[in-house]
Amino acid sequence: MPRHIAVTMDGNGRWAKKRGLPRSAGHAVGAETFRTIATYCKDIGVQYFTVYALSTENWKRPKEEVDALMELFRKYLREAAETMAERGVAVRVLGNCTPLPDDIKALIGETERIADTLGEGAATASLCINYGGRNEITNAARRVAERVRAGTLDPKDITEETIGAELYTAHLPDPDLIIRPSGEIRLSNFLLWQSAYAEYYFTPILWPDFTTRDLDDAIDDFNRRSRRFGGVK
Ligand code: IPE
Ligand code: IPE
Ligand code: MG
Repeated sequence: MPRHIAVTMDGNGRWAKKRGLPRSAGHAVGAETFRTIATYCKDIGVQYFTVYALSTENWKRPKEEVDALMELFRKYLREAAETMAERGVAVRVLGNCTPLPDDIKALIGETERIADTLGEGAATASLCINYGGRNEITNAARRVAERVRAGTLDPKDITEETIGAELYTAHLPDPDLIIRPSGEIRLSNFLLWQSAYAEYYFTPILWPDFTTRDLDDAIDDFNRRSRRFGGVK
């Protein structure tokens, strides 16, 4: 079983368009898919599940679509705060929260506080909101530079671990399997640093249609791969 699975939740808009519905309807169904797959991951023993919910580039979408996404984040975070302990899943948010509405920032704070109280046995579901891989690495570089300027870090002591520890994912292992539904075969700025040796799985299924069976298929595919990490096997 992969220890950490990440998903770019893509295809909501096309799913809605095919049905003559507003894009927001696709996002609402996509959020349901997220709930189903996150629960399933925990049930089958995947310890870490990470999803791409809003990129640093998605703000250029129409305001009503962005607002609809914010409303879904609100709803999910409220629900997570109430059910997290009982479900044994620690919900965490990764990304730059600064431009998010204040009430969502407060909900994220509350969610983090509850997640911190869950023990070792809990699975982790991470929601990447206003996340961008380049933004993440840039921020990490800035913080490392500040430590150098303050005289607490010598440039020759900067290692891959120094950078990794400054990323939003500092507390997570690298993803083993990254799934992108919807037929797009690109990264779109997701987990650029962390995906160095991830196995990618691309499928034409649109995210709102993605089922637990599709996740099983992705995991079966993953299990047929030979991961060499640059070595010989
Ligand atoms: C992914 O679905 C969700 C977000 C980016 C928030 P899209 O909205 O990108 O769906 P498509 O790609 O237009 O079908
Ligand atoms: C990536 O999907 C971001 C999320 C799913 C949150 P996009 O739909 O924004 O990516 P592009 O524009 O097709 O590359
Ligand atoms: Mg898309």
